[in-house]
Amino acid sequence: MTPIFQTSTYVQSRPGEHKGYEYSRTHNPTRDALQSSLAALEGGKHGLCFSSGLAAIDAVVKLLNPGDEVISGNDLYGGTYRIFTKVFEKYGIKFHFVDMSDATEIEQYVNENTKLIWLETPTNPMMNIVDLKAVSDIAKKHKVLFGVDNTFATPYLQQPISLGADIVMHSVTKYLGGHSDVVMGALIVNDDQLAEDLVFIQNSCGATPGPQDCFLVLRGIKTLHIRMDRHCVNGKRVAEFLKTHPKVENIYWPGFEDHANHKIAKEQMRDFGGMISFTLKGDNQEESFDIMSKFHYFTCAESLGGVESLCNHPASMTHASIPREERIKIGLLDSLIRLSVGIEDADDLIDDLKQAMG
Ligand SMILES: Cc1ncc(COP(=O)(O)O)c(C=O)c1O
Repeated sequence: MTPIFQTSTYVQSRPGEHKGYEYSRTHNPTRDALQSSLAALEGGKHGLCFSSGLAAIDAVVKLLNPGDEVISGNDLYGGTYRIFTKVFEKYGIKFHFVDMSDATEIEQYVNENTKLIWLETPTNPMMNIVDLKAVSDIAKKHKVLFGVDNTFATPYLQQPISLGADIVMHSVTKYLGGHSDVVMGALIVNDDQLAEDLVFIQNSCGATPGPQDCFLVLRGIKTLHIRMDRHCVNGKRVAEFLKTHPKVENIYWPGFEDHANHKIAKEQMRDFGGMISFTLKGDNQEESFDIMSKFHYFTCAESLGGVESLCNHPASMTHASIPREERIKIGLLDSLIRLSVGIEDADDLIDDLKQAMG
């Protein structure tokens, strides 16, 4: 097994004479092993780890300069929206939040200042699907960097670099770690210069993870394919159960044939994953809170992608930093519940939904 190099520094026989390692913010052998593993999983040349998913996104935006513009998907993890609008806007970077379900919509926002297109697919929490190949064609045509947050799909279900993305980002905290015991982020790229620029930011800004956490993620990755298969099987069972439930108004899961971009999901993903969102008839927030408090297996908590099922109320939890009027525009209603379907026995999960929802 990869040793945990629990050290901050490394012996140098004379100043500048060492075995490739000087200081652990810059390099650590356990982190190097994980970075190589993540690059291999995504079919990229370079992997970089960060102390959280948001630290990874932070590094990407730091590639830009004041006056640059970013075209971003309009359905995003709340923390991503927050770092874009509350941290980087004040440094003079402009963000356009765009519905990308039809990729051709993006082109009208491209101008000479556009430097980055950023998106999630499936999106958090509305489970929209964006056509990666179509967006990468637009990005290439206008020589704009194209970054994809691949957290929900994981490299097992979808590999954006093979479809033309320049940067793949992960909240490793989720499926890659897989056991809800690590907070970490990652970037994977092919281009050597882009990798060098990001490594410079990684080291200069210093948001790097420790070796113990890298070890845990290396262990998590060994079962990624098996866990994902089970997340997908259980996700399908749960989605199908909820679709016919009399209390459910809308259900969002890309595996349904009537999902707006089901065909694209089928083309660019191996399977549809275990993330599901749904709203209640009457859209009553209190009713969703009641349901969530009755769950036994779907524990109410932030985060997703662990082996144990979780439920979350995006409007008040993960996406609380998005103004209500913006949320409502994309269908993120007050009663919306997001489920991260785990790898438990599917019958137990269905029984749990039955008893909590009545
Ligand atoms: C899709 C997505 N991207 C990014 C993040 C941020 O990652 P982290 O919490 O590891 O900083 C999250 C966290 O929930 C997420 O769901």
